[in-house]
Amino acid sequence: MAKGKAKQTPKASRRVATSGDIEVSTYLEIAKEISGEQPAAAREAIPSGEREAIIVIDFGSQYSLLIARRVRECQVYCELVSPDTPWEKIAPLNPKGFILSGGPGSVYETNAPMAPSYIYESRLPILGICYGMQVITHQMGGQVMPGTKREYGHALLHLGGVDSPLFANVPQSTPVWMSHGDKIEAMPPDFNVLAYTDNSPFAAIGNDKNIFGLQFHPEVAHTPEGKAILKNFIYRICGCQGNWTMGNFITDSLTKIQKEVGKGKVISALSGGVDSSVVSTVIHRAIGDQLTCIFVNHGMLRREEVERTFNTFRLNMGMNIIYIDASERFLDRLKGVTDPETKRKIIGEEFINVFEEEAQKIGKVDFLAQGTLYPDVIESASSGSTAAAKIKSHHNVGGLPAKMTLKLLEPLRYLFKDEVRQVGLELGLPEEMVWRQPFPGPGLAIRIIGEVTKEKLEILRAADWVVMSEIKKAKLYRQLWQSFAILTDVRSVGVMGDFRTYGYLVAVRAVTSDDAMTADWSRLPYDVLARISNRIVNEVPEVNRVVYDITSKPPSTIEWE
Ligand code: XMP
Repeated sequence: MAKGKAKQTPKASRRVATSGDIEVSTYLEIAKEISGEQPAAAREAIPSGEREAIIVIDFGSQYSLLIARRVRECQVYCELVSPDTPWEKIAPLNPKGFILSGGPGSVYETNAPMAPSYIYESRLPILGICYGMQVITHQMGGQVMPGTKREYGHALLHLGGVDSPLFANVPQSTPVWMSHGDKIEAMPPDFNVLAYTDNSPFAAIGNDKNIFGLQFHPEVAHTPEGKAILKNFIYRICGCQGNWTMGNFITDSLTKIQKEVGKGKVISALSGGVDSSVVSTVIHRAIGDQLTCIFVNHGMLRREEVERTFNTFRLNMGMNIIYIDASERFLDRLKGVTDPETKRKIIGEEFINVFEEEAQKIGKVDFLAQGTLYPDVIESASSGSTAAAKIKSHHNVGGLPAKMTLKLLEPLRYLFKDEVRQVGLELGLPEEMVWRQPFPGPGLAIRIIGEVTKEKLEILRAADWVVMSEIKKAKLYRQLWQSFAILTDVRSVGVMGDFRTYGYLVAVRAVTSDDAMTADWSRLPYDVLARISNRIVNEVPEVNRVVYDITSKPPSTIEWE
């Protein structure tokens, strides 16, 4: 059984975990009573009808977030928590089961992270994955040993031993993805083998108390039956209903936003990007004209971007928008500046100045809306105080609240990007907005190498327009993380008709990525590249040469500055 006692066991609050009809407010009150602190208000955004959640105890695997995404794809709410999270923070979520993630540790090392005792005491189902399985084995009296060699990659799983609902409708033999060094030497008492591979006699184990361990990773795409196994755990074993839908999320968010904001005033910085668009739309749906969106045109937006954003939100959605054309002001400050970091800093600072000036004109404002997403929340929680090496200073509205002392309203704080897109679609935002590729805060300024001028902005807009339209025509837009043009400060000699030209060099960048932390250059079809190049040199007279950027990140970054 689990070593050590958590400060508060679920016993005191078991009524919280098992009673299906306690009001949300009661949950929060009980949690508050136990913990002595106010639970995060955003927790109320979880569907209140039949609240249920699977909790992932995160031991630091690179796949932990993926587990949460997979669970949510099964329409069950899922949150990641660290192993030292007290029970009173978990109880309000109404957990139906626990998943213990993989992790880089070894259970027999000193200070190896262990599962909190409440997961066992709660008697809720538990699924340990890789290191999570080793933790269960170690804590429940089995034996884990260092493997003689690391098992990494594909293996063939054979069902065998005892039948289990965990493998219902899973073929007798199926490929799975392994990535582990340590292995189970002896199962804990009363556990049975459910499946094995050539190298792992205990590839899947379980007992009759609904505690399971998998040596392989069901959450990765390389385990084709992985989602079926997770689904079996969530539905057949934990008995979840599957009420995590974006429709429910919206309904719950509207109530929550109305309650939180009351008669207060909210401002949001609208950029036309997916997150700021969805966040503004959901808040507008909840509180109408109590929301004012401030749309700052810093002069570094792409062709038609201003009109499209303004029309969508002002004309189609009827939102209260203050549009500020501050292009001259930004360009003035950027005159003669060529250093990338200085450009970014100037734009960030000036953005805050303009935003603040406009916000002050509105009068008293209580909240600042932000499009913070779940991966940002997890990342900042896990990065702790050790700041990651600064590669580029990203210009985000995140810098605003420190100066403005506004309360933050972050209705998307528990959502993944694909969920945000779904919310956007359900709220009636146009597809082109919901599926928009990321666009950096400083805009075209960091895609013009050297000084930013009006003339160069026009050249880049024209070239970028070609890239975007050809990529869309080739139906590649959604598969690419980003695709765009860069105006370099290189000029080269060319010939057009009978004339010598001396024109700009434009670079084209198209990358695939999952999260922008790493990216690969896209192997665009030659004919698409040919059309892009041909059109740019024909339609943009100042450009006579086009190159394609074939570097991945790392060592490059996605943007050029
Ligand atoms: P890099 O160039 O660092 O970019 O590989 C990673 C991702 O971040 C975007 N990016 C920004 N986004 N403000 C933003 O909101 C910024 O200042 C900024 N700089 C880069 C970039 O487009 C890519 O998706």
